Amino acid sequence: MINFEFYNPTKVIFGKDTESQVGKEINSRGYKKVLIHFGGTYLYETGVLDRVHKSLEEYNIQYIDLGGVVPNPHMSLVKEGVQLCKKEGVDFILAIGGGSPIDSAKAIAYGLVNDFDLVDLYMGRVTTDKIAPIGCISTIAATGSETSNSSVITIEEGMLKRSYNHDCSRPRFAIMNPELTYTLPAYQTSSGAADIMMHTMERYFTNTEHVELIDRMAQGLLVSVREAALKVVKEPTNYDARADLMWAGSLSHNGLTGTGRVSDFASHKIEHELGGMFDVAHGAGLCAIWGSWARYVYKTNVARFAQFANKVFDVPMNLYNLEETALKGIEAWEDWCHKIGMPTSMTELGINPTAAQIEEMAEKCVATGDGHIGFFRTLYKEDVIRIYNMAQ
Ligand code: NZQ
Ligand code: ZN
Repeated sequence: MINFEFYNPTKVIFGKDTESQVGKEINSRGYKKVLIHFGGTYLYETGVLDRVHKSLEEYNIQYIDLGGVVPNPHMSLVKEGVQLCKKEGVDFILAIGGGSPIDSAKAIAYGLVNDFDLVDLYMGRVTTDKIAPIGCISTIAATGSETSNSSVITIEEGMLKRSYNHDCSRPRFAIMNPELTYTLPAYQTSSGAADIMMHTMERYFTNTEHVELIDRMAQGLLVSVREAALKVVKEPTNYDARADLMWAGSLSHNGLTGTGRVSDFASHKIEHELGGMFDVAHGAGLCAIWGSWARYVYKTNVARFAQFANKVFDVPMNLYNLEETALKGIEAWEDWCHKIGMPTSMTELGINPTAAQIEEMAEKCVATGDGHIGFFRTLYKEDVIRIYNMAQ
């Protein structure tokens, strides 16, 4: 195990009807004017927005709504949000929704207290440890943005999907009511479940040795998500399965399953370019890529892939042929993806990038990491091109 710091200050308020506590949470911190930031119409239809308004009104907290966040959220709305907050004297930002509204809220919060152009922040040209306070009400089990230190924004000019990670962006509180996820379309539920799996898998595939404690926690999380996703596909209102997915979403990306080891995150970087160029659902994009990444890199550490196959997908361990076990584990993952309605190739994802587009994505992808990505195995532009081609 290597040295690590683990910082996770977000207060988690989990369970039925918890969204009605939002006024109390914001009031107890002394904030007076809130920007409520969200995506589309389901929050009106389900009455969630009304309940949130009511809860704020109970504590005489003023608010303004800014909806319209799209999946793979755009920098243009972030900038509009910053101007609105400055004009209205907003002192707290509340996101309601999934990774997209939460990430957009984090970006607005950076813009509210820093003077630089936010594009420079997300392009890695400046850094900051200053952010306005944010809280969130999560409505999808997926990215874990409700407790993570990350936000991912698409800069429309060049369709560049870029992230900025800093501990200061972990929300002050995260309200998580699994019942709010009942209205999710099946595809989004499954895409979210896949993303949760991937956040731990990106940390599980490591060459750091002697990480048994976190390996076992990671395996437990992965098995639970694997099973809960299969249940929810059949029973969308199964509260306990929804609750497992929701809590796993946070635990999978709050840093816990990466403690004491080097993480990889190459599949995420490869997928983010797909999201930037083709606007695909993030988890579905990961499913389309991961099997190809895995087949490209598994020889780096066959034993680790065999352990994943055995402990997460119950593939019998063939000690005389670890490679066979490893490959069966990759197949088992793809089989699980199909069972929950997720793609395992770009064709199944519904996209067909040209050779020129693949080259452009590979170029942009490695540019995020000084010409290479990945830690399990270092990948250069030519490697990334091969992985995209394998995933066609
Ligand atoms: O568009 P709206 O109306 O908001 O509807 C959303 C959206 O269409 C819908 N939805 C969410 N909750 C719902 C619901 N529909 C009905 N009932 C509900 N309860 O679901 C769709 C997807 O929402 P989105 O917020 O885009 O999904 P997700 O949570 O998967 O977020 C994806 C974004 O987060 C980034 C991704 O790259 C992508 O941009 N990520 C953020 C991370 C982070 N901040 O830590 C890490 C991740 O790896 C990821 O990169
Ligand atoms: Zn992700």
